[in-house]
Amino acid sequence: MQLSAEEERVLAGESGETCRQLLELLVALGKVFGAERLVPIRSAQVSGASYKTIGKYGLAWLEQLDAKAVVPAVLNPIGMPRGRWQEMGVDPEFAKNQEAVVRAYERLGIRLECTCTPYYLSPPALGDHLAWSESSAVSYANSVLGARTNREGGPGALAAAIIGKTPCYGLHLPENRRPQVRISVEAQERDLSIAHYGALGYHAGKLVGNRIPYFTGIRPDADRLKALGAAMAATGAVALYHVQGVTPEALQYLPETADLETITIGREEIRQIFTDTPVEAVAVGCPHCSPAELDRIAALLTGRKVRIPFYVFAAQGVIDKNRSAVAAIERSGARVYADTCMVVSPVMEQYRALMVNSGKAFAYVPGMCSGAVARIGTIEDCVAVATA
Ligand code: F3S
Repeated sequence: MQLSAEEERVLAGESGETCRQLLELLVALGKVFGAERLVPIRSAQVSGASYKTIGKYGLAWLEQLDAKAVVPAVLNPIGMPRGRWQEMGVDPEFAKNQEAVVRAYERLGIRLECTCTPYYLSPPALGDHLAWSESSAVSYANSVLGARTNREGGPGALAAAIIGKTPCYGLHLPENRRPQVRISVEAQERDLSIAHYGALGYHAGKLVGNRIPYFTGIRPDADRLKALGAAMAATGAVALYHVQGVTPEALQYLPETADLETITIGREEIRQIFTDTPVEAVAVGCPHCSPAELDRIAALLTGRKVRIPFYVFAAQGVIDKNRSAVAAIERSGARVYADTCMVVSPVMEQYRALMVNSGKAFAYVPGMCSGAVARIGTIEDCVAVATA
């Protein structure tokens, strides 16, 4: 790899031992993936934030680091809402350890906004280089916003935040952003809710694996794109997709789609994971809710009371700017929590069956929540089940 004189000085230890170690990590990653240089980044999003996933060894590693992020950087969701963990029923021992993880990141200059939707708080621009970790955030940044990021591991994203650069390979390079398979969707757009887009992504991710799909036949809005990308990143390893006439890079690749293998997905395949399974709780906001989703949930819950636990997850910054919708949701007995989600919080492990409106959550809940059964439904279905 070609390193600048300044980078060589950091590697020689002139900026301290932590910077030396973290740059060494970035250079090692770059060599593995054939990067020729490092590229400056606009922001980082760091996973490995829930004590449920990093445990005591991850915490010990974080606590011995001594440096500060030089670009704006946020955390992925943690295992609890920081201000309301007691109310959510989080075990005090877990909360103590989770607080220690949060403090360790804060000391490193990472903003304590713990979310998989950092783009609602500070949206990247077309062409920006980023070092983001969480798979749905990576998918949204690349596909919907046209920014450029690989899916970084937690340590790689943290190193990039502190060094301000990431190895330039993979999706940072335009030649690696070309579509590799075409997906023709044969369904009426009016039948495709956000949950249906999650189901479409759930199905498509299994079919395309790690290839870059180019969708035709759909006209999703931003929330549907978010649901589609999150689910494809969960069942496949899709970090970038294009949608004809919708996403910012789709037009430039249109001519080359004629020669691609085409997969057709129809209405029945999208519908096949919807069931009537009884559930003990409802959890929505995977990925974290947009302002429009909070408004929709508030409208549906107004004048109703939930009879089973109903969790809504969103970024703290989004909650703060949409207080009236949040208040309307909470008047029904549902709870809107920041910082965490149905997959990373240990609280969700108490339920044996959980209803979600997300293809990603549908894919992850059984594995992450002690084998719980997941049921997917539209947000209208979720509210109907919770208030019946
Ligand atoms: Fe976000 Fe948690 Fe879903 S991190 S994408 S809400 S699994």
